[in-house]
Amino acid sequence: MVNLGVLVSGSGSNLQAIIDNIEAGRVDARIKIIISNLADVYALERAKKHGLPFMVVRHKEYKTREDFDQKLVEILKAHEVELVILAGFMRIVTPVLLRAFPMRVMNIHPALLPAFPGTHVWQAEVDYGVKFAGCTVHFVDEGTDTGPIIIQAVVPVYDDDTAEALSARILRQEHKVYSQAIQLYAEGRLEVQGRRVLAKGIPMFPDSFMINPPAGIFER
Ligand code: GAR
Repeated sequence: MVNLGVLVSGSGSNLQAIIDNIEAGRVDARIKIIISNLADVYALERAKKHGLPFMVVRHKEYKTREDFDQKLVEILKAHEVELVILAGFMRIVTPVLLRAFPMRVMNIHPALLPAFPGTHVWQAEVDYGVKFAGCTVHFVDEGTDTGPIIIQAVVPVYDDDTAEALSARILRQEHKVYSQAIQLYAEGRLEVQGRRVLAKGIPMFPDSFMINPPAGIFER
């Protein structure tokens, strides 16, 4: 059982998926505290609905990013949090948080890192013409979207895709892989070796692939 602190800034659909998977017994964790940097976000309604403890810590009330993160650390430690989950948390975290939780801060990013870091990724993917997109759960390091990758999910990009359609397709996978990453952590299976995160005891696909558009000549 791993104690989670979840940081949010928005709708909290990833938070919801984690709550649902914990309640269904698929993820061996408990949410000790949910912290939002913004008041009136839907993620907090979700917390209330499930009777989970939450707080609003307004980043604007702190002079520096470091001061804000120090406050987060105090709250997370007071709630005996072991693993910090950034779930649509739209703030850059500083070494103050990362040193308090080394390799114990996870983030989800809606692209196949290291491609498309940052924001507005879905339109950028459509515009670039990539044939696959996806999402990445990674440990957070001091860069932006650069930390060691834990798990990724891939979705196809279609010729008539819009940013909205693509983001919805990716989000459905986000809701699965974030919980999987937390469960791998809870089972003690994640081993960080430099940039690589190994999932101990998980069998790998021997020879799997996807082709988009479907290649056809091999099936015909
Ligand atoms: C998700 O798509 C997540 O990957 C993204 O924000 C969305 C939050 O949705 N996170 C980032 O872009 C972090 N850089 P949610 O609030 O419904 O979980």
